[in-house]
Amino acid sequence: MRLIVDSADTEKIRKMFEYYPVSGVTTNPTILTKSGKKPYEVLREIRGIIGPETDLHVQTLGEDADEIVHEATVIKRMLGEKTFVKIPVTREGIKAIRICAQRFGHITGTAVYSTAQAYLAAEAGADYIAPYVNRIDDLSQNGVEVTKKIQNILGQYAGKTRMLAASFRNVHQVIELAEYGVYSATVDPDIIERMLTNDSVDAAIAKFSADMTSAYGEQMVMTHTD
Ligand code: G3P
Repeated sequence: MRLIVDSADTEKIRKMFEYYPVSGVTTNPTILTKSGKKPYEVLREIRGIIGPETDLHVQTLGEDADEIVHEATVIKRMLGEKTFVKIPVTREGIKAIRICAQRFGHITGTAVYSTAQAYLAAEAGADYIAPYVNRIDDLSQNGVEVTKKIQNILGQYAGKTRMLAASFRNVHQVIELAEYGVYSATVDPDIIERMLTNDSVDAAIAKFSADMTSAYGEQMVMTHTD
C-alpha cells in the first residue's frame, strides 16, 4: 500500500521524505490554514520539497461545477502535471469530475462517506477515491468496513480508479486497510511516526547493545573490525 503524507507542515514533510517510504502529499483547506501561510505559498514550498514528479493533492472550494473546473485549471497551472485536484463528491462535484476527467485527468474524489458516493465518482472518471475512515467511524459506522466495500467496487474499474483512504486516527485503521490490499492511504505524520513506537523494540535493541558492551568493554558498532 502506498503511503502518502496528509500534511502541509513543511518541516514534517521534509522529515517524512527523509526517513519513511512515502510517495506523495495530500492537503485539504483545513490543513493549509494550519500552515499559517497563504495557500499557494505553502503549496509551492511543498512542491519544491517533493519535486515535480511526486504526487501532490490539492482541494477545490468552489460551490458549482464551473467554478470547480476553473479552480482545477489554476491548480494544475500553478503546481504542475503531477498535481491531483481533489474535488468533493457532491452533485456539482460529480459534474466537475466528469468535465475535468475528460480535459486533463488527475482527479481525486474526496469527502467520501459512502459507497454510493465512491461508485458515482469512479463512474464519473476520478483517478482516486478518498473515503474518510475516521470521520465515518465518528458517525457510528465502521470506516474500515465502508472502505473495504469501496475497494470491492473499485475492483470493477480495472485499476483506473484507485483507493486513497484518508482520515485516520490510529495505526490500526491504517494497517487493517494495508492488509486488505488497498492501493494507497494518506496519513498524518504523527500517526506515521507512531507506526514505530513500541517499547519492546526499544528494549530489544538496548539489550543487544548492552550485551556487546558487557562482553567487549566498549560501546560497539560493526565498523570495529579488530
Ligand atoms: O485530507 C482529508 C482527510 O485526511 C481528513 O482527515 O483527520 O481531518 O478527518 P481528518
